[in-house]
Amino acid sequence: MTNSALDPLVVLTGAGISAASGVPTYRGVGGFWQNYRAQDLATPEAFQHDPALVWRFYHWRRNLVHQCKPNQAHYLLASIEDKLEDFVLITQNVDGLHQAADSRRVIELHGSIWRLKCTKCENRWMDLTVPMKEDLPTCPKCGALARPDIIWFGEPLNAEDLERAYFAAGRSRFMLVIGTSSVVQPAAQIPIIAHEAGARLIEINPEITPLTAFADVHLRGSAISQLALWWESISP
Ligand code: OAD
Ligand code: ZN
Repeated sequence: MTNSALDPLVVLTGAGISAASGVPTYRGVGGFWQNYRAQDLATPEAFQHDPALVWRFYHWRRNLVHQCKPNQAHYLLASIEDKLEDFVLITQNVDGLHQAADSRRVIELHGSIWRLKCTKCENRWMDLTVPMKEDLPTCPKCGALARPDIIWFGEPLNAEDLERAYFAAGRSRFMLVIGTSSVVQPAAQIPIIAHEAGARLIEINPEITPLTAFADVHLRGSAISQLALWWESISP
């Protein structure tokens, strides 16, 4: 079935959509960056200085996320995708829970904790093993030290992913923004591009964010309840 009144629908998700799955958010109470300093763990400098420390953080996170399952909000987005012809899901999350819920058209703007990349050659590969065999994983092609394929602070996003996200936003009719504090650039710019191009902007978040002032609708509450209510209100 195609719900053409909604096409193209673009969704941008952040850590809030995975909160109910047990994945901690980054900011706010209990957030990663309340307990850890991002500059010690999520920058290229930190990795250069102490790769073992950075890898310990990522082994711990892989283990944590490994125990988490997608929630109803992830599943509902996957079923909305099935109903629409023109749909893109842009996520800032690195947990892989959208794919675990069978979403297919996903742009992982900030990378994935399940993908590694070589520090020397161009090699990138998936590794779902938990725990990993080595504390300091190496590249299967050239043997050099591997790192998580995640965008760290101070690093540019993948240009192609960002371009696809901007393009999708610019031509969207509806843009749904779920569970992001909308403070990290350039991701926070994506809904603004949609808004400026005339899309209807719907924000789902229990809190007010810098995006709220631009939103046509702010559904104040959790991703699971508000996404279900929104979908009920517009689906035929
Ligand atoms: P944040 O931790 O900054 O924000 C999470 C947002 O989710 C907040 O606005 C909360 O109000 C909201 N929230 C919490 N529980 C929710 C729920 N049950 N339903 C809906 N919303 C809820 O996470 P992000 O905005 O995703 O970067 O952070 C952006 C980037 O900063 C991340 O991708 C990460 C981080 O440093 C990288 O990993 C590169
Ligand atoms: Zn290599």
